[in-house]
Amino acid sequence: MVTSTWMGLALTASLAYASKASTSSNTVTFANDNEFLFDVDGNQIDAYATKINYFTTSEGSQYYLYGISFASPGSTGDGPLTSYSSVDLVNWKYNGLLSETVGGGRPHVVYNAATKKYVLWVNIDGGYQVATSSSPAGGFVSVGDAAIDPSVSAAGLIGADHSVATFGEQAYLAYSTLNFADPRAGSLWPPIFQTMHLSPLTSDFTNTTLQGYNVTSAAFDDVDQQTESPDMFMRDNTMYVVTSNTCGFCSGSIGAVYRAATPGLPTASTKWKRNIVSGYSCGGQVEGVLPLTDPATGKVTYVWHSTTVPGGPRVGFSGHIFQPLQFAADGSVLDLDCRPSKTWQVPFTPGNVSAAYTGNLTKATDASPRFANYQPVCDSDRYSALYQTWTNSKAGVLRSVSVNVAAGGNNANLTISVFAFSNLTALVAPSYKYTLLGSATFSPDQLTQVFGTAIVPLNATVQAGQMLGFAFGEAGGTGAFNLGNFIPYCHLEYDTSGHGSESKGQVLLQQGSGQNSFRGIRGTTSPVTVRHGKGIKFFATVE
Ligand SMILES: *[C@@H]1O[C@H](CO)[C@@H](O)[C@H](O)[C@H]1NC(C)=O
Ligand SMILES: *[C@@H]1O[C@H](CO)[C@@H](O)[C@H](O)[C@H]1NC(C)=O
Ligand SMILES: *[C@@H]1O[C@H](CO)[C@@H](O)[C@H](O)[C@H]1NC(C)=O
Ligand SMILES: *[C@@H]1O[C@H](CO)[C@@H](O)[C@H](O)[C@H]1NC(C)=O
Ligand SMILES: *[C@@H]1O[C@H](CO)[C@@H](O)[C@H](O)[C@H]1NC(C)=O
Ligand SMILES: *[C@@H]1O[C@H](CO)[C@@H](O)[C@H](O)[C@H]1NC(C)=O
Ligand SMILES: *[C@@H]1O[C@H](CO)[C@@H](O)[C@H](O)[C@H]1NC(C)=O
Repeated sequence: MVTSTWMGLALTASLAYASKASTSSNTVTFANDNEFLFDVDGNQIDAYATKINYFTTSEGSQYYLYGISFASPGSTGDGPLTSYSSVDLVNWKYNGLLSETVGGGRPHVVYNAATKKYVLWVNIDGGYQVATSSSPAGGFVSVGDAAIDPSVSAAGLIGADHSVATFGEQAYLAYSTLNFADPRAGSLWPPIFQTMHLSPLTSDFTNTTLQGYNVTSAAFDDVDQQTESPDMFMRDNTMYVVTSNTCGFCSGSIGAVYRAATPGLPTASTKWKRNIVSGYSCGGQVEGVLPLTDPATGKVTYVWHSTTVPGGPRVGFSGHIFQPLQFAADGSVLDLDCRPSKTWQVPFTPGNVSAAYTGNLTKATDASPRFANYQPVCDSDRYSALYQTWTNSKAGVLRSVSVNVAAGGNNANLTISVFAFSNLTALVAPSYKYTLLGSATFSPDQLTQVFGTAIVPLNATVQAGQMLGFAFGEAGGTGAFNLGNFIPYCHLEYDTSGHGSESKGQVLLQQGSGQNSFRGIRGTTSPVTVRHGKGIKFFATVE
């Protein structure tokens, strides 16, 4: 192990990257400040409006995660739809598109034991398309459009956000209906009114019984008439319908929970009780509730999760916040805990399929932390380049370096160049020449608005303890000096504090646009400076 200091940073060449597993055998950890989810290839999980189900197939049981893709070509809020699977809720394997032909909003899947079919419901064209498959992971084929309570269309309302769920042998559709013609629409807001409804499904789960019942508190007030984005669960013979209030692809909405005793649901006279569990849902919009069963006790924890859009308006930047719901004695739900540092350990039943994950991330040699509070940073237009360094921990052939990048509307290309260098002091000194190991240039259409990996293929012999780095910048390295490009590429950044990054030689440097000479009153300051306490999300693979 080699320790040196440079610009006040303790640098230790050491230790292979060890991933901090966030799951022990029967407990999964959720953290408010860990919003982005990644699959075992290191790509951001591309599933807006996520719903997670636990299904058992002939291969065994596991968790399936569904959502709307924003990375696929031509993607809109109506899909295409993706699925991932996991035994431990941490390692997620991408299963591709749910269907070649079916797209729509908020995919939800239920299993029908009698027909042995997985039944997918999507919201499309103001109604619900239904598709079935013998697999929960894909191959869904449409069986047509469901019919809903005829009073909805009679009133000129439009079917919107929905969920389907089974309780015993009975399945339900929860769905909101939009009223674009409501005279109460305001100049500023609300643009629409919408109400929540519950319908039983037919025995094969591919249609409703045409009955529909309002999910509303007795008040039927402006909160009850702005509900969307529902999911359902059953606890102690009480049915719960969780909702947000109207907010398209937003960061933050009311979280409202409705509950009513069963049996006897739903009926026109059902008295739902409502409680608002968060004013802003920790900067998110509820997308689902995941019931997790403690295999030791059989106790079920209901994990609320919401879609967050950390860092702004790009919908593809969808993160998630997971937290177990806490209940009061009367069955109401306590306020969500949005403290950034809050974590929870939840007992759960791991899947039992044999799952040897072989994704690209599992082969990484050196990497930024697997779990960190990654945030989008979009500033390639303001820097000639950013330089992320690391100490290579394994002798062999460096095969690739992968960096999570999001694009969108860019009119410059992105270049990532990988190099070896002797030490940081030398690297930032004038006239220093690093050893270029390889580079790749990406045009905007090779990247997506989701943080997938931009992969630089390499074939370079490297030594353990050698200092490596990559330059990340717009092609030509001119940043905003590249007149005409005003839309930056985005990468993911984390606070290195507490992650031991410096001990792995992981330092982030920046070089401002057009900064190519000494700075400072004494004329001795390098134009390449440390972006203190920050690191870029990346991984490198040596074989
Ligand atoms: C896997 O788990 C499912 C669901 O709990 C169970 O039905 C099945 O028997 C288990 N299979 C094995 C091989 O343990
Ligand atoms: C649902 O039922 C209606 C008749 O009530 C029928 O027209 C429609 O095709 C059915 N949809 C599906 C998916 O079975
Ligand atoms: C149920 O919702 C519909 C549609 O918004 C509304 O017209 C009706 O008044 C509601 N009925 C009750 C009992 O709340
Ligand atoms: C995994 O890495 C290989 C080689 O670098 C690359 O060709 C492939 O696209 C990557 N797969 C994914 C899913 O990122
Ligand atoms: C980006 O790279 C492509 C080739 O991959 C090239 O055709 C195009 O001109 C480049 N665009 C810019 C703005 O340099
Ligand atoms: C840093 O690298 C330079 C150039 O390769 C070398 O001259 C110098 O001795 C190195 N410094 C340290 C502290 O290793
Ligand atoms: C990688 O480099 C080795 C040694 O230079 C060479 O023999 C091999 O063909 C290269 N492989 C590829 C895929 O370029």
